[in-house]
Parts: sequence; C-alpha cells; structure tokens
Amino acid sequence: MFLSPCLSKNEQGHLTIGGLDVPALAKEYGTPLYLMDENLIRETCRAYNASMKEHYGKDNFLVVFASKAFCAKYMYRILAEEGMGADLVSGGELYTAIQANFPLDRTYFHGNNKTEQEIILALDAGIRRFVVDNREELLKLDALAKERNTVADISFRVKPGIDAHTHDFIQTGQIDSKFGVALENGEVMQIIAEASKLSGVRVVGLHCHIGSQIFETEPFGLAAKVMMDLIADIRAKFGITIDELNLGGGFGVRYTEADHPVLIDEIVSVLTDAVKESAKEHDLELPFLVIEPGRSIVAPSGITVYTVGSVKEIKDVRTYVSVDGGMTDNPRYALYEAEYTAVLPERIEAEATETVAIAGRCCESGDLIGKEMKLPPVKAGDLLAVLTTGAYNYSMSSHYNRVPNPPVVMVCDGKAKTIVRRETYEDLLKNDI
Ligand code: LLP
Repeated sequence: MFLSPCLSKNEQGHLTIGGLDVPALAKEYGTPLYLMDENLIRETCRAYNASMKEHYGKDNFLVVFASKAFCAKYMYRILAEEGMGADLVSGGELYTAIQANFPLDRTYFHGNNKTEQEIILALDAGIRRFVVDNREELLKLDALAKERNTVADISFRVKPGIDAHTHDFIQTGQIDSKFGVALENGEVMQIIAEASKLSGVRVVGLHCHIGSQIFETEPFGLAAKVMMDLIADIRAKFGITIDELNLGGGFGVRYTEADHPVLIDEIVSVLTDAVKESAKEHDLELPFLVIEPGRSIVAPSGITVYTVGSVKEIKDVRTYVSVDGGMTDNPRYALYEAEYTAVLPERIEAEATETVAIAGRCCESGDLIGKEMKLPPVKAGDLLAVLTTGAYNYSMSSHYNRVPNPPVVMVCDGKAKTIVRRETYEDLLKNDI
C-alpha cells in the first residue's frame, strides 16, 4: 500500500495524518470527516516555487493555485503566505478570496461564461488578469471596463490542439472543447486582431490548459512549444508582444498503486525547457511564465474518514460496504469512475484480502466511492478512510438527499483545527422560504 508523505502509522497500528491519530480525530470531530495536512500543502507550494525559480528565473513566474480543487478562506491564507497566485473561476471563488484578504493582484479570472455581475465584481476588485474565453466576453468586458474608465489586462484561453491522455470529461486542449478559442481554424488570430482595436482591454498574455490528471510530460512540452510558436506568429502578424504565457495545470497525482505521477521538478523542467528553447528559436524575450496546478497541491494532503454502517454480502455477486458519506462528499467515481485507495485507520497493517464496493448513503445505485476496492475484512462500526481526497472532493460536494457536508479539519504541527464547519440541518434550510 502507498501512503502520501503526510500519512503514517503509530504504535497502536492506527493511521496518522501529520502525526495525529486518525481514529482519535474521527472520535473528536465525528464522521464523515475531511482531514488535510497543512505542512504538505505548504511544502508542495514551496516545491513548485523552488523549481520555477531554479529552472526559469527569480522574478519571472507565478505559480497559481487552481481554486476549484479546494476553495476555502483558510486555503487562500496559506496561498498568500506561500507567495502563490490563485485561479478563480466564479464570483463565489473571487468573493472567498476577497473575504480572505488574498492579494488580488495575484488572481486570474477564468471561466467560459462569466456573467456581467462577475465581471463587474472582478473589475472593481482589481484582479490581475481576465482570461478571456470568447468574443462575447471580450466585448462585454471591454464595454464594462470603459464604463469604469479602466483598462482590463487580458489573456486569451487558447485550445492548442493537444490530445492529453486522460478522462474525456477532464480533457480540454482539443478543438472539440467548450473552453477557449481554437488555434487550428484561425479563431485566435481573429480575436487578437479584434481585441487590439479595443480601448477597454489590453492583451498581455495567452493561456492554455490541456486537461487534468495527466501523467506524461510530453503533451505539456508540446503545448508550451505550440504556444510559443503562436506568440511568434502574433508578433510577426500584428507586431504585438505577448508578455505572459500561462500553461495551466493538470499534473497527475497518485490515487492508486497503479498511478505513477511525474515529480514536480521534472514537469517544471520540461515546461521551462520548451519555453526557453522556443524563445531562442524565435528570438523572443522569455515571457512571464504562469502555471496553475490545483490537484497536485492539495490532493495528497487530504483523506476522508467514514464510519461503516453495514456490510452486505451478496453471495457470488458482490459485497457492499456502506459508509456514512458518499457521492455528496466525493462525486468522482459517479462522474469519472475515478479510482481511489481505501484503508482501515484502526488497523492500518491489516492485509487487504477482500474486494468490495464502497457505497455511499444516497438513493442512487451509482453512489459509490469505488466498485472494486481492496480492503481487509470490515464490519459495521469500523472506520474507513479514503486516501488522496484533498482535491475536487470538498469543492465538488453537494446536498443531494439533503445530506449536510462534512467539516474540513486541518492538521498542522501536531494540532488539528476546523477550517470549515460541519453543516447543520439549519444550514441546509437557510435559503428555504
Ligand atoms: N487551470 C485551468 C484553467 C483549469 O481549468 C484547471 C482544472 C486547472 C488549472 C487545474 O488543473 P489540475 O492541476 O487540478 O489538474 N473535477 C475534475 C477536474 C476538473 C479540472 C478542471 N480544470 C476532477 O475531479 O478530476
């Protein structure tokens, strides 16, 4: 079994996170429970920053955390302290960042359908960059910026035509995607020509994001090269200098034994080498370089702890182990058949001899955490932990069946603190009239 660096076991044979006993935390905070390790999040931020500094240069980059992976006020405080930027994709994420006093001159506003209200909020807040997705947005932003006597700095989201090997739903670099403007059919050049005539926007950058949970380095290097070629073409055609290149995120993490993620330093070196080589080839200045990792910064720091409620053995068919959470706190199996590793925090050494389905508690047959998961023999009342749930779990939680969301408890330097409270039934009713 693999364990992320923040997990270990103690003399009682219990799982620990950040050195704290997971069964004891489950007793104190109840289940279901999201636990995260702050030091691992910080170390990962530092590893990205150190690699970028080493491979690209001291002041010529920004590592931007994709908030969609885990959005909470506390996270923005960590990011601010670690010198990170933030990728925001909605007014809600922006509002959370504002409320956390996150430095907004480090924020990138994404999204393929920003509303007028969101654009106004972002303009008034003074975000760093609008990553413009389409022509209607460009015109809307230009008009709203002019009304406010300001000029919005923009990047364009480009589909570089790269096919990344990952689940269809989280693949975004190819032409058949709802995100961005395409390179192959000349859309990018058209929109840049149009933007260059507008006085409410200033084109400063280009952006691409080819997909998520990608293990190969090759598509990233290729995307970097394609984007640099585009910067050269734009200079040649319009005389416009693109100062900033944002290559998105998408770096894979380990959910199961079968996953073999690439080291941060390796990803960064592939990306930066491609940019540097291309700059030399085209005689371009090195652009300000932005990357936007989300999953890889938070996924390995998180686990979800459940209590087993029943074990239903259907002879010659399957055994269903039902837990007190499920698709409402982790919809990733239901959406992508995502695979996870589960362990028993009270008996971490026990051998995983059974193959079971771990089922959630919703009225939905597809409410599973996994269909064929390896576990030691388990009974009602046991704790069960699902690993690597720090990304896209809390942020994708729902209230289906009016199930309240678990709290998020952050562990740091031997202490645990609630950073997001457990929802109550009153919380669920607060907007009901
Ligand atoms: N930048 C942009 C523009 C993005 O759209 C994304 C993710 C990222 C950065 C961060 O990608 P990461 O480093 O986290 O892979 N809900 C799905 C993942 C959707 C990713 C959407 N965009 C999941 O649970 O797998």
